[in-house]
Amino acid sequence: MKFLRYPGGKSKLLSYLVNHLPKNKDIKGTYIEPFVGGGSVFFHINPDKALVSDLNPELISLYKGIKLYPHKVWETFESFPSGKIAYYDIRNKGTEGKHLHYKAARTLYLNRTCFKGMWRHNSNGDFNVGYGGEERRWVITHQNIVELSKTFRKAEILNNDFEDVILNASKNDFIFLDPPYKPGEKDLHELHYRNGKFLFDEQVRLAETLKSLPKSKRIRWAMTNSSHKDILSLYEGFHIKKIPFGTSDKPGIQTKSSNEVLITNY
Ligand SMILES: C[S@@+](CC[C@H](N)C(=O)[O-])C[C@H]1O[C@@H](n2cnc3c(N)ncnc32)[C@H](O)[C@@H]1O
Repeated sequence: MKFLRYPGGKSKLLSYLVNHLPKNKDIKGTYIEPFVGGGSVFFHINPDKALVSDLNPELISLYKGIKLYPHKVWETFESFPSGKIAYYDIRNKGTEGKHLHYKAARTLYLNRTCFKGMWRHNSNGDFNVGYGGEERRWVITHQNIVELSKTFRKAEILNNDFEDVILNASKNDFIFLDPPYKPGEKDLHELHYRNGKFLFDEQVRLAETLKSLPKSKRIRWAMTNSSHKDILSLYEGFHIKKIPFGTSDKPGIQTKSSNEVLITNY
């Protein structure tokens, strides 16, 4: 079940990715995901011990809310009225002074009913995507939220910058990284995220952080990224595989390139 609509979601590439990532039983340390976003890889691996983080504060409140208060989140989500008027009312009221379970339920409600699942905010940081309809609201159930809560209870959830998360990794941890990028994009811009752009200097900072991990810690990492030559030049000496396009729809048929790569240090 894909419970969240999220830009850059990796669910379409999952069938390819999972063949190149360790399974839960093969991760001796902690599974770490510093750009967790919609979390498709994290949910698939369902690690026994995890640390997930993202700079998007609404996303992290959603995950923490589900982890701690699955029933209250569901009850509040269920109680929000249907329709355009209710949507704008709940959206415009914001979350000031609200409890974590309300924030989580509101984010889930807006995500399931907004236009095309977009995440866009105005300059004040307020969510400003228009109404999209109720068709996708009820694909999630109370039981789904309870199951998600069980997965999150095995994870520490942080709202930190990636550098901080990566540098705190310990011996034998595994890090999966899915930084913001647009496949093949020339300017390496990404405008859809809560925190604006992730430009090339951020890509450089990411590569330097990964390269600074001491070899003695035996930390393995894998990253999806654009196949843009400037990105590839940051990872000379690592293992780089082109991700084939369309593997999940037509298993075994790999026709076009996706302009995305999987880079690993193992
Ligand atoms: C491509 S998305 C991850 C998508 C996710 N793997 C999925 O399957 O849905 C990238 C994420 O990086 C987050 N992000 C952007 N800059 C960041 C930073 N400096 N540190 C941590 N997270 C950041 C964004 O908020 C976004 O959620």
